[in-house]
Amino acid sequence: MRIYKEKDYEAMSRRAASIIAAQVILKPDCVLGLATGSTPIGAYKRLVKQYKKGKLDFSAVRTVNLDEYKGLGAGDEQSYINFMNENLFSHVNIAKENTNVPNGLNKDAAAECARYDKVIADMGGIDLQLLGIGNNGHIGFNEPAKSFADGTHMVTLEEGTREANARFFSSLDEVPTAAYTMGVGSIMRAKMILLVASGKAKAQAVKDTVSGPVTPKVPASVLQLHPNVVLVGDEDAMSLL
Ligand code: F6R
Repeated sequence: MRIYKEKDYEAMSRRAASIIAAQVILKPDCVLGLATGSTPIGAYKRLVKQYKKGKLDFSAVRTVNLDEYKGLGAGDEQSYINFMNENLFSHVNIAKENTNVPNGLNKDAAAECARYDKVIADMGGIDLQLLGIGNNGHIGFNEPAKSFADGTHMVTLEEGTREANARFFSSLDEVPTAAYTMGVGSIMRAKMILLVASGKAKAQAVKDTVSGPVTPKVPASVLQLHPNVVLVGDEDAMSLL
């Protein structure tokens, strides 16, 4: 695992954006695995800036997002599809048909998860997977569990995860209790993984990820077994390393 400890959120975002930009420049039709949440917003802003300056071209880029709340869709402000449109897709020249997010409105979980796994397989796999990390060590919505899940599946969100994400909703009651998420196996099959972390609340999870035992109780710890992981964190997130 290559580790970059950056001074603050801005520096972390700059570093993460430069790694994603390099991937797009080196392979214009790359498959980017993308994440939502607060942490990648700064990196997305920088990618949009670089696109507007004419330095990046997303016309052939394909994307596949990690997860979506069950029951939410593009019409819902807090859905992850809406997050991606607002923070990246609507501001660059990516073809909307080249972007993929699990369909939270599909009530048939088995069908939706199988469809999404096929989407990833048909794309030929993921070149660069961007990940944030939960306070509990989750990646995507793979919550601490008894075993690592392979493909896309439905998860019940931990109360702590719902509370952490409640800031995006008007009340905790509105936060969905379930989600569709790519599995740890799908994430681990990406050629390269870029894990971003910011803030003191992530420090323990980052420490357990980097130097704790590999265990599904800390889902991100599995990244120790991947040959090409870059961790970019700010000083707060790295403070226990
Ligand atoms: C988001 C996702 C989650 C977040 C994680 C951290 O698509 O899959 O694993 O990356 O919950 O969220 P933030 O960045 O909001 O702290």
